[in-house]
Amino acid sequence: MSIEVVITGGAGRIAYALIPLILSGQVFGSTQKVSLRLLDVEFAAAKLVGIAMEIEDSNYELCAGLVATTDPQKAFEGVEVAILLGGYPRLPGMERKDLTTKNAEGMRDQARDLQAYGSSNVKVLVVANPANTNCLVAMKSAPQIPAENFTCLTRLDQERLRFFVASQANKSLASRGLSPSAQPSNVKGVAIWGNHSTTQVPYVDAATVVIDGNEQPATSFFVEEPAALDALVSGVQNRGAEVMKAQQASSGMSAANAIAAHLRDWLKPIDASSSSSDLEIFSMGILSNGNPYGVPDGLCFSFPLRRVPATGGFEIVAGLPISAKMQAQLDATVEELMGEIVDAATIVPSLVSKL
Ligand code: LMR
Repeated sequence: MSIEVVITGGAGRIAYALIPLILSGQVFGSTQKVSLRLLDVEFAAAKLVGIAMEIEDSNYELCAGLVATTDPQKAFEGVEVAILLGGYPRLPGMERKDLTTKNAEGMRDQARDLQAYGSSNVKVLVVANPANTNCLVAMKSAPQIPAENFTCLTRLDQERLRFFVASQANKSLASRGLSPSAQPSNVKGVAIWGNHSTTQVPYVDAATVVIDGNEQPATSFFVEEPAALDALVSGVQNRGAEVMKAQQASSGMSAANAIAAHLRDWLKPIDASSSSSDLEIFSMGILSNGNPYGVPDGLCFSFPLRRVPATGGFEIVAGLPISAKMQAQLDATVEELMGEIVDAATIVPSLVSKL
């Protein structure tokens, strides 16, 4: 059986980097066949044709079907996983929230079509910015799809954080005359809280770095240089803008890589007998209702999450230490999200009705 997957914004930069990951088994597994739909707007129709030809010429063994179309019905019919990239992209000098009203309408329409034509249990990943608020727009516009099936991408920020923590660990080790042997893959337990924006809260307080088989607190690498922690936070918050400034286009390859990791960690089948504490923490934006950290209900908010083997689902990791400084940062990201909702509600009024 193949899995039915749609990518909106299918002719764009992120899709171009994501398609090979999906069709080479790096997202849904090395033997899972994928029936892929690419949807884009009329303006990009010719480009879609070219991408479809490239997919054909790549002879992916896992490709069980391909539809490249500008017709939402054809794109969404029966889909089980929807990756919503389609929307106006951020341009240099803009904040992601400057796209709120521009992208709300398109997101509402994509979600309505998804509800009309897709599987009733379709899993939705919203990437188009502002990702958190767009995710809420999609959720509210498709109320027959379970709210817990909607997520937004903050994994790119988490991967950026992992890289920065490994770099700082190596700097600290070198300054002590030790071998700088930290790899990003040795960094565990980093997470992103809140909005995929400059108010996001990159979290290292509970993280560890495995050096030569020994797990060390990530914070131990900032002891000699506490200012490096603030620089790291700001570096992650502003990385998207830095990438855009450097290449005059927003992240494509790293975004695709993060989407693949997000979908893997969220959806891959897990052994019901595995121990929950052995599973890695990962971050996604989800509906905040009932969270254990006092974040108001009704937001799409990124939390540290962990899979629950017994149910196959996931849960928010509870009991993590929150400093007073971090609480103030969490309050700021909540406030920003609330402002985005007010803006988006001018286009999608249902956004301010109770979930
Ligand atoms: C990113 O973080 O790289 C993306 O959200 C693109 C952007 O606008 O920064």
